[in-house]
Amino acid sequence: MKIVQTVAQLQETLAPYRETKTSIGLVPTMGALHVGHASLVDRSVKENEVTVVSVFVNPTQFNDSNDLKSYPRTFDADRDLLESHGATILFAPTVKDIYPEPDTRVFDCAPVDSVMEGVMRPGHFNGVCQIVSKLFYAVEPTRAYFGEKDFQQLAVIRRMVKILELPLEVVGCPIVREKSGLAFSSRNARLTEVQRNLAVNISAILRESINFAASNEVGETKKFVEEAIEASEGLRLEYFEIVDGLTMQSVSSWNDTDYIVGCITVYCGEVRLIDNICYRRQA
Ligand code: PAJ
Repeated sequence: MKIVQTVAQLQETLAPYRETKTSIGLVPTMGALHVGHASLVDRSVKENEVTVVSVFVNPTQFNDSNDLKSYPRTFDADRDLLESHGATILFAPTVKDIYPEPDTRVFDCAPVDSVMEGVMRPGHFNGVCQIVSKLFYAVEPTRAYFGEKDFQQLAVIRRMVKILELPLEVVGCPIVREKSGLAFSSRNARLTEVQRNLAVNISAILRESINFAASNEVGETKKFVEEAIEASEGLRLEYFEIVDGLTMQSVSSWNDTDYIVGCITVYCGEVRLIDNICYRRQA
């Protein structure tokens, strides 16, 4: 695995592959890698001749400076994990290299970016679009891999790719969970042992809501989840929305659309955790 730190080095390394039209997979990450990230890398390695993994804690997508400061950084372990999963290139740039000057671009990915995380974290998706578009321009991947764990982010990126007419395929990958059901997240490292056991209830309640939804309408199911989270020790609900899996807009009936997902954000202590569950998906 080759480690490159600047966009110029990256271009140099990719040039021969471009000449031979080699397929290039890109996996953007912010590091603190875990098996969820590794599943994206595995998929890319399987589907492409070259896999580029970026590790970059992108400051423009953090609307809380403490969150940025406390974001876990584990470069050596990340490098080892990527090496063992067969990544070809690890791209780990500095903030100066990515943003030699402030990025003033404004992305409008409406309607998918204007609800849920878009409301709770103003500017967050704009920062995500800034960094991901820069990575797309620098790598020119054949395919780019994103987790369904950040379900709305995946929808925003699909929309951005459409708007910018970028010639690449966005591949969504399933959520990887611990045995307990807790979705792997870099932020889990900030949970105490006790909090980790309480956080397990998020996925447990989402799972239970699938059964509940089988004989209840959308409104009741939303209430079922909200009340169950609020009644759970140590958990504080930020939002739970049942939305169209493509547009991110709330649905009011299971028959509204073919793809329906419940998206949740919960605080466990100071740690903000997100998860989601699919209620309906028809081809
Ligand atoms: P990060 O949180 O590091 O996540 C990188 C990718 O890994 C995202 O596509 C995310 O959805 C995926 N991922 C995280 N946990 C996962 C899990 N348990 N199962 C499956 N996939 C999982 O998301 C970001 O970084 C940033 O916003 C980024 C896109 C890199 C832009 O800075």
